Amino acid sequence: MPDAPSLILPTVIGHRGAARHAPENTLAGLRKAAEQGAPWVEFDVMLTADGTAVLNHDETLARTTGLDRPMAEVSYAELAGLDAGSWFAAAFAEEPVPTLEEALGCLGALGLGANVEIKPTAGRETETARVAARILQRAWPAGLPAPLVSSFKRQSLAAMQQAAPELARGLLAEELPEDWREAVATLGCATVHLWRKTLTREAVETVKAAGFGLAVYTVNDPREAVTFRSWGADSIITDDPPAILAALGETPPAG
Ligand code: G3P
Ligand code: MG
Repeated sequence: MPDAPSLILPTVIGHRGAARHAPENTLAGLRKAAEQGAPWVEFDVMLTADGTAVLNHDETLARTTGLDRPMAEVSYAELAGLDAGSWFAAAFAEEPVPTLEEALGCLGALGLGANVEIKPTAGRETETARVAARILQRAWPAGLPAPLVSSFKRQSLAAMQQAAPELARGLLAEELPEDWREAVATLGCATVHLWRKTLTREAVETVKAAGFGLAVYTVNDPREAVTFRSWGADSIITDDPPAILAALGETPPAG
């Protein structure tokens, strides 16, 4: 059984907010996910050149802001003026790249839980986790379920384990690694997060039988979500929360 902080996983987690319905990794995306009834969201945390933790997925800002420069070379002051919404739809024009602190404030106001993915740029695996740990410890909203912190980078998970041992951790991988038992034991992970494309029933059953939570990303086909749940997956991470909530018979909260 995992020797890790316990947590109760939600059935549906909005990916990068609700990435099919609003620009990814923005406050508008968090609001959209909450409005659509997602109990939790997933988002990616990265550092600016000067060490501010912000929500962003790609190594460069080109796709989501039009600025063709690596995040690792852009200061927060430069980033703050960028428009991360227009690429998605004109209705989201001027939507900024939020800081992690702003995102946590938004989660608190919305009553939304989160899977915080540490997505370091190359060479900043430890630093990104340490900065995020401090912010989560200081600013995680009271009253929300504690966050689940995940990463593909074992170095980031190790840094998180050291800086914030009280926060649940999840090992992200495209496929269940050969050494997964050793990795989750060493890193004190409570969950394993696997890619839908290569997921097998055997992998789900193996992880679940060992007592770990299992999340699958990124599942936008309702039938696939039903199948993965029937195999025993706990959480479906999806760009399309309303479609997956409906397929799984999860009723969004009223109001
Ligand atoms: O955390 C699940 C998923 O977001 C991992 O892949 O590339 O979308 O961050 P990616
Ligand atoms: Mg992610």
